This record gives sequence, C-alpha cells and structure tokens, in this order.
Amino acid sequence: MKLSQRITHLTPGGNDGWDVFYRARRMISEGHAITELTIGEHDIRTDPSILQAMDLSARQGHTGYAMVPGTDLLRDTVAARVQARTGVPTLRRNVLITPGGQAALFAAHVAVCNPGDVGLFLDPYYATYPGTIRGAGAIARPVQTTADDAFQPRAERIDEAAEGAVSLLINTPNNPTGVTYSRQTLEEIAKVCRRRDLWLISDEVYDTQVWEGDHISPRSLPDMVERTLIVGSMSKSHAMTGSRCGWIVGPEDVISHLINLATHTTYGVPGFIQDAASFALTAGVAMEEEIAAPFRRRRAKAVEILAAQNTVGLVPAQGAMYLMLDIRATGQSGEGFANALLDRHAIAVMPGESFGDAAAGHIRVAMTIDDDRFASALQTICNFASELADRRAAE
Ligand SMILES: Cc1ncc(COP(=O)(O)O)c(C=O)c1O
Repeated sequence: MKLSQRITHLTPGGNDGWDVFYRARRMISEGHAITELTIGEHDIRTDPSILQAMDLSARQGHTGYAMVPGTDLLRDTVAARVQARTGVPTLRRNVLITPGGQAALFAAHVAVCNPGDVGLFLDPYYATYPGTIRGAGAIARPVQTTADDAFQPRAERIDEAAEGAVSLLINTPNNPTGVTYSRQTLEEIAKVCRRRDLWLISDEVYDTQVWEGDHISPRSLPDMVERTLIVGSMSKSHAMTGSRCGWIVGPEDVISHLINLATHTTYGVPGFIQDAASFALTAGVAMEEEIAAPFRRRRAKAVEILAAQNTVGLVPAQGAMYLMLDIRATGQSGEGFANALLDRHAIAVMPGESFGDAAAGHIRVAMTIDDDRFASALQTICNFASELADRRAAE
C-alpha cells in the first residue's frame, strides 16, 4: 500500500549527521560509560512543587477532556506573561495551549502555509524545523547564517530567498548555536517580513535562558503584532519536557482557526498538566532562574576554559543550554571530530552538520551534566582538539 508523500518525505534519507548520536546511544545500552553532551534535556527533573500541583489537580478530577484552546487559567497566565515580556497587550483570545512547542511549530505552519508555499528557516537549525515545515505541506527553504557573522541572520539573505515564501521561522535564544539575536538583527528581520509580507514564526522556547543582554521578542517591534506567531513552551523554562505543554500567541483570528485545527488534531492538553503549568508560571521568576542557573554557571566555566586555549573557537554563548564550538583548526569536519571524540574519550557531542550545512566544522555541546564532569569533559575536548591541530601542523 502506498503512503502519502507528506509522511514519506518528512525527513530526507541518508547520513544526516545523527549517526554519532545513535552510535553513542548504542554504546550506552551495551554498558559503555559515555559522557552524554548531545540532547537538550536538563539534568534535573520537574520540581516536586509542580508535580504536587499536577497531582492535586488530577485528584480533584481534572482528568477528563480539557477545554480544547486551553484552560482559561493557563491562557490568561500565558497572556499576562507574554504581555509583561513584550509590552504588547495580550489577551486570552490571543493564546492557544498546545502539546509542547513542537506541536505549536507544526500548527503555526499549517495556519499560514498552503501546499507548495515556501516556508523559510535559518541554517543552522533545530533538527525538526525542515520536517515540520514539510509536514505542513510547504517547501522548507533554508537561509544560511555564517560563523563569520556569529550566526546572526542577514536580512539581505532572507530577502534574496523570499521568492514564493509566506513565512520565516526564527529562534532566539538559538538552538543549536547558543546565539541570541540582537535588536538590530531583529529589526532588520522585521523589516524584511513587512516588505515581503511574511509571517514571522518566532520560536522563543529558550526565553528564560539568556546569559548576556535581554530576550527580545520580535512581536514587540513596530507593526509586527499582526504578523508574528510566538511559539513558547514549559519544557525548557520549567524542566517540564515530558509534560508536553506549550503555546502559540498571535492575532485573534489566527488563534481561532488554530483552535479549530486543535479540535481536529490534538483535542487539547490534559487539564492536570495545564494546572501544573499555571502553578509553575505563577511561581515567579525565582523558580525559572533556579532552573536556568546550572546552565548559567556551566556557560561561565566554559568561557573560562575556552579563553585559556586557542584551538577551539566559541561561538558567542549568549543563551540556551548549548555551546557551539568551532573545531575547524583541527582540519576535521564536525562529524569526523565527534566520532573520533567518542572513540578516543567516550564523550558524545553533536556534529554541527546535523543542524545544517552552515554549522559544518563545528560541534554542539549540551551543558546538561553536573558542573565538574562538564568542566572536565570540555577540557578533554579542548586538549583533544589541540592534539589533532598539532598533528595536522606537523604533517
Ligand atoms: C528550538 C526548539 N524549539 C522547540 C523545541 C520543542 O520543545 P518542546 O516541544 O519540548 O516544547 C525544542 C526542543 O528541544 C527546541 O530546541
């Protein structure tokens, strides 16, 4: 029996740079001790107070179908949060609660792309982006950012790629690069979106993990409210990756269509999860800062370690739970380096190539193990890189 092209063409076949990740997973399952710096998952679990709120809600009976758009309480809480962060008036009717940020990314593209339209995204990119755009029936077209520009997107490149495009997906703070987009970058992006009449889908799931400067949401820029869809999530801000709770914030008419889409796809998010999310969001910034604190500490340590050597380059580590390291001085590709690192030192990192062509010659290091092991692994990575670079120089 034939399957649809939409599902069979979601992800291209062949080597996509994820081999090293699967190899590391296999080695772990065979009992090898591997230092895992691959995936964006906290090394802490959801806070017991959030679990208590979840338990209480479930025991009080919030286990039936929840309201499809989200509970009034959570929609109001998200609206107030986004309003406080962007200064843009935001109401319950601007918010749809989704099963995580990933479902929000998909729904946002379904909302704005017709089959055959082009959806733009920036390379390097979070692994699911092209498949998400294709899944919505659109053509996923990457726009390169470069290491030379510290992976800040250039408006003229977006403009050049905009023929046939209806949307642009951006992510700041960025996974995989750890870069946050400057106000100037965002203003230029906004200008292109207005000129080219593009929807801006702004993935802000790392908005509580900012190490330098402030998080700027493009929804707050002039004339962007009506063309911006914010994607948010409880996953990273509150270590609730498994709870699958996120949202889209956007213009009321888009949200009302998205509610209809939710009725025909997810049928909402469990009520006890939403109550736990409302509790967590109203617990205040102290909890968010506590959850972000280990990454802030490890990032500071990483800056120190990298400053003491000159083989490995650090892409400005301004936010999110990752470091993007430039290992081109070793003469290796990101993939070659990551494989050799796994074989020689039992450390697993992601090759830059697994996030697109623009991150070739880089590796992404997730800061998701305890401080001492993290510092020691990073030191080993630097030493290994300098050994390879010396060997190359001697050849
Ligand atoms: C950039 C980015 N967007 C979205 C997501 C999806 O997050 P979730 O579906 O857990 O909310 C992730 C997860 O790692 C991510 O890194």
